[in-house]
This record gives sequence, structure tokens and C-alpha cells, in this order.
Amino acid sequence: MLILGIETSCDETAAAVVRDGREILSNVVVSQIDIFAEYGGVIPEVAARSHLEAMMPVVDKALSDAGVSWNEIDAIAVTHAPGLLGSLLIGTLTARTLSILHNKPLYAVHHLKSHVYANWLDTDANILSRAASPRPVATGEARSSSPCQAPEALRKNVLRLPDFPLLALVVSGGHTQILYMPEHNQFEIIGTTHDDAVGECFDKVAKILGLPYPGGPAIAKAALSGDATKYRLPHPKVEGLDFSFSGLKTAVLRAVQKEVGVPISYPSHKLKELLTPEQVADFAASFQKTAVDILCEKLKMALSEHPDVKSVVVAGGVSANTELRKALPEAFFPAPSLSGDNGAMVASACYFEIQSGVKPVDPYALNIYPRISIEN
Ligand code: KG4
Ligand code: ZN
Repeated sequence: MLILGIETSCDETAAAVVRDGREILSNVVVSQIDIFAEYGGVIPEVAARSHLEAMMPVVDKALSDAGVSWNEIDAIAVTHAPGLLGSLLIGTLTARTLSILHNKPLYAVHHLKSHVYANWLDTDANILSRAASPRPVATGEARSSSPCQAPEALRKNVLRLPDFPLLALVVSGGHTQILYMPEHNQFEIIGTTHDDAVGECFDKVAKILGLPYPGGPAIAKAALSGDATKYRLPHPKVEGLDFSFSGLKTAVLRAVQKEVGVPISYPSHKLKELLTPEQVADFAASFQKTAVDILCEKLKMALSEHPDVKSVVVAGGVSANTELRKALPEAFFPAPSLSGDNGAMVASACYFEIQSGVKPVDPYALNIYPRISIEN
């Protein structure tokens, strides 16, 4: 089954063609990062206009890269929730129009489901990393496979998929949640953030340190030359499996103010002028370590409360973080190129929804939901 996946929930205009939820035939992503780096964050109206310009060329390229015509596409999947209102509108209006025009069934997919299902996509990168990992694999022959083997051979023999029930740690720019998935397409939120998402916290801390948007990759890069033990940052006191990241951002702000010797009334956008590159690196490393430790702590707690869990998957933009990957060697991670927003994960999530009996939506009536939960 060939599904065209369309994603425009934030600042990436993306479309992809995926076979049977796993095999990526094409994956086109046009990022607006360059535009928003200038502003230090996403401006919703600008994002919507950029989606409008890029959308159809991106869809056309996804089809041509895949070498398929409209006749061969079995269904269209689009992100309808959650995200920026204007951005979601462009993607869904495009998908609705294409569905009517080409007479294809239309499926509406929740963005966080898509991030989770990025873990089911075949890529040479995750095939190789999973083959190289110490996890048990399907056959004895595969167990002794060298990670240098051709990806084709590894695909047949080695690629192991997450087993149910599983826990999904969703870490993106807008969400930080722990989900319990008893089986495909069933989600129970067992932990969530009370305020900022962890990705948002990376972005805000980067701003304090004078690092560019998006903050996650910039902090990870700066942290490479930093000392993660230099600044002690507190872990928030939040009950159970929930998170809070706004306090961590404020803790970094206060620590920077103290380090450079200014009062708390000092304008935060000017702090970067007082920091040395070494201090920036040390703050980046200390913050990153604290954020990763907090995520791992809660995940560990969730695992102890759910002893039936067989796999852990990590999903969302922050899953690209190398230190998080190192801290969770047994967890499934998407290939780094699929950690951020893309159309392939939308097509994959849609395929597994269809397998679970989800029906298409009416292309004349599909609505968008900027804030709806994954449990709905
Ligand atoms: O999933 P995503 O692409 O968009 C949303 O659905 O929100 O996530 C974007 C977030 C941003 O906050 C970005 O700073 C963060 O993911 N991010 C990272 C890294 N790469 C992206 N955070 C930490 N380390 C990274 N390497
Ligand atoms: Zn996302």
C-alpha cells in the first residue's frame, strides 16, 4: 500500500511516499529554519505563508522522487493536530483538495503519533544502528552479522521492531510526554509536562546563551566542548511521571546572571554579550546533562511502574540529541534524519492506523485541532 504523507504542523513543509508503513520511497522536507533563525523563533503567519509557497512543489517532488504517479497512490495522510493553526490549515487544505481531485481516501493523523511511528520506518541508519546494538535479534545468523554488511541484507535479517506493550518518550518542541502503548494505535498518557516542553526549554536556554534557533542542535554543538559538571542545576520537584521545564530555564537564567555578576533585573537578551565562549559551552553542557537526566529519571520511574513493558521508543525533535541516545542505549530511536518533522512518519502512522481499522475522513469536512491530545 502506497501512502502520501503530508506534514505542515510547524515550520517544515514536508511530503513523502511510504510503502506499507515502513519503506520510504521519497521524503522531501523544506525547512524554514533559515528564515526563523533571523527572528530567533517561529512566527506563525510567516510559517503559514511559506508553507503555501512550498507545499505543491514539495508534493510534486515527493511523487517524482518516488517514481510513482497519482494512479499508484492508495491514500493521502495529513497532520490535522496539534500545531500552529495557519500551518495546519495549509497542509490539510492541500490534502483535502488532492483527495477530492484524485479521488483518494484521506486520513487525518495526530502529529505525536507520527513522531512515534518514525520508529517503524526502515532507514539504512536505523538498520545499521540496531544491527550494531546488543539487543537480541531474530535469528542466530543475524546476531553475528557485521554492521558493515549491505543494508539490504541487514534489512532482511536484523531489523527488529519495537514490541508491545511499549513506552514512548515523546520529546519535541511542543510536547514532553510518556505514553503507554498496549498495542498499535492505542495511547495512554502516563506523564506530561505541566508547563514548557523540553525542546522549548532547549530553545529558550539557547536564546539566553546567545545561540541560534533552533536551540537544540545549537546547544548540543556548544556542549561538545563544555564541562557538564561545571554548573549544578536543580531537578524540578514534580510528582509522579509528570515534568516541568520552565523552572530549569529560569535556573539557567539565574545561574548565568550570577556567573556574570548582574542583578536579576538585567535584560536577559544582553547576557550573551557578557559570556565567554567557555562559559557558553559549560552552560550548554550542564543544561543538556540536566535535561537528559530528568527525562531518564522519569522514564526509569515509568518503567518500574509498568513491568510488562517490552520496548521503549523515543520520538520527536529532541530524540536527535546524541547525549539522550547515549543515555538510553536500549531504547529505539528514529534515524536522526527522521527525528524532526517529516512526511514519512505521517504516512507510517496512517498505515498502522488503517491496519487498526481507522476509517478515512470526509475531505469536504476535515477540521484542524491546534491543541488536541493524542488520547482523543
Ligand atoms: O518534533 P520537532 O521537530 O517539532 C515539534 O513537533 O515541536 O521538535 C523540534 C524541537 C526544537 O525545540 C529543537 O530545538 C529540538 O526539537 N531539537 C533538539 C535537537 N534537535 C532538535 N533538541 C536537543 N538536541 C537536538 N539535537
Ligand atoms: Zn514535531
